[in-house]
Amino acid sequence: MEILNQFSLKKYNTFGIEASARRFVAVHSVAELKTILQENASEKKFILGGGSNMLLTQDVDALVIHIDLKGKKIIREDDDFVWVESHAGENWHEFVLWTIDQNFGGLENMSLIPGNVGTTPVQNIGAYGAEIKDSFVSCDAINIETQEIRTFTNEECKFGYRESIFKNEVKNQYIITSVAFKLTRNNHKINTSYGDITAELAKQNVTIPTLKDVSNAVIAIRQSKLPDPKELGNSGSFFKNPIIPASKFEIIHSKFPEMKYFTVSDTEVKVPAGWLIEQAGFKGKRYGDAGIHKNQALVLVNYGNATGSEILAVSKNIQQTIFDTFGIHIEAEVNII
Ligand code: EPU
Repeated sequence: MEILNQFSLKKYNTFGIEASARRFVAVHSVAELKTILQENASEKKFILGGGSNMLLTQDVDALVIHIDLKGKKIIREDDDFVWVESHAGENWHEFVLWTIDQNFGGLENMSLIPGNVGTTPVQNIGAYGAEIKDSFVSCDAINIETQEIRTFTNEECKFGYRESIFKNEVKNQYIITSVAFKLTRNNHKINTSYGDITAELAKQNVTIPTLKDVSNAVIAIRQSKLPDPKELGNSGSFFKNPIIPASKFEIIHSKFPEMKYFTVSDTEVKVPAGWLIEQAGFKGKRYGDAGIHKNQALVLVNYGNATGSEILAVSKNIQQTIFDTFGIHIEAEVNII
């Protein structure tokens, strides 16, 4: 385990931003992680997973610990269900494909989401009508201060829309080391309710979709809308879809009846930030090397050499314009560092 000085993080963040870590170490086992935490107790630390949900606006003046814990296995099974566990450093999409290859159901709608398994509970990742909270059993996490391992059950994680305890009460206190999921072995709950999936399956003439069919449809949809970080730096949805009071929604909806929306409760409605941003005229715009993706306005992109500050400035301009136009505040989903 070698600690490197002034280490470039360009390859470790999917935005492809050039920024350096004062010190950097990759850990490959929980034992190594414990040692690093113990030996560097007083030093400021920054935990790095897949780097797919952050915008680096400055160098990181800390010991960056890259969680590179690999391995996945079946931990239990019965006739109907299987419990699988993955270490935090496994690539999420590869893990999803591994479950589908074995005909384990539950994660297929979340195919091709960038990032590593260990960060999925932090923001309760979700796509096309599924969220990880639907299959999540528990995760193990190490306390940064005490190095004690704690298991968080689904309930303890307090999952919400792109929310969990790890973004709130215990923020920056734990490092997730492994995650366990309960998946179906038969009677899969195929979920094609999300309009885009139905349309994609019809296009492919699939009438009774398998897990693999759903996964392939999701992959096709994502590839058509969302840029591949390997080709164009990005961090997925930059903003959360705002949840607004129903009274405010009525006023906006009467002006823009074509706007899609999702009723959250009697008093709240979730509206698509991508739609708001497109209406405000930002879709496909480019400012130097920072821009808004041409197929999905919720995604900010780095055309090559944008700095984190330049992308942040674009995001602030969007937020202000959306507020001035619609009276709605859209919050960043991505962590701004
Ligand atoms: N829309 C526009 N213009 C755009 C983008 C979207 O009008 O440029 C409209 C669409 O027409 C549609 C609505 O907005 O009516 C929703 O669009 P979409 O289905 O593309 O989903 P989204 O709400 O923009 C969310 C997640 C994505 C996830 C998709 C599919 C958030 C913040 N984002 O996006 O997650 O893949 O749904 O389920 O909830 C991510 O978190 O990084 C991410 C990509």
